[in-house]
Amino acid sequence: MATFATAGYQAPPLDGVWATAPYFHNGSVPTLDDVLNSKNRPKLYTRSFRTDATAYDSAKVGWKVTPAKEADPSQPPYERRKIYDTSKPGRSNAGHTYGDHLTDDERKAVIEYLKTL
Ligand code: HEM
Repeated sequence: MATFATAGYQAPPLDGVWATAPYFHNGSVPTLDDVLNSKNRPKLYTRSFRTDATAYDSAKVGWKVTPAKEADPSQPPYERRKIYDTSKPGRSNAGHTYGDHLTDDERKAVIEYLKTL
């Protein structure tokens, strides 16, 4: 009988990762800088959802976000969807703390490398 147990979780390929923000399987992390600095990741936020240069953070590599209040349940779903709340089920941005120990300069160097993939 087939078994579906695995020894771990398959890490995603990082080709073109500079162009695919927001990050992680649930899109919970807006920039590469935040991927590599878990303590800095925004917890409750929104963004403009524009795709022009003003919406993009080219230093952190990803989308600019602003802090938000919890979504108002009286708002229609398309408005509530604009608020990303990492405390909700399936929306966590936890884990992948591998970049936390890097200095700011080291993190920038890794991001420069990721931009070349
Ligand atoms: C400094 C070293 C590392 C860098 C620069 C790095 C970079 C990244 C980036 C940019 C992503 C986001 C990919 C995306 O959303 O498309 C990612 C996701 C991921 N990485 Fe790493 N990573 C590192 C170390 C590791 C290590 C050591 C592991 C495993 C032990 C790992 C496992 C994963 C997994 C499983 C994901 C997917 C997480 C998710 O989608 O929720 N990474 N990594």
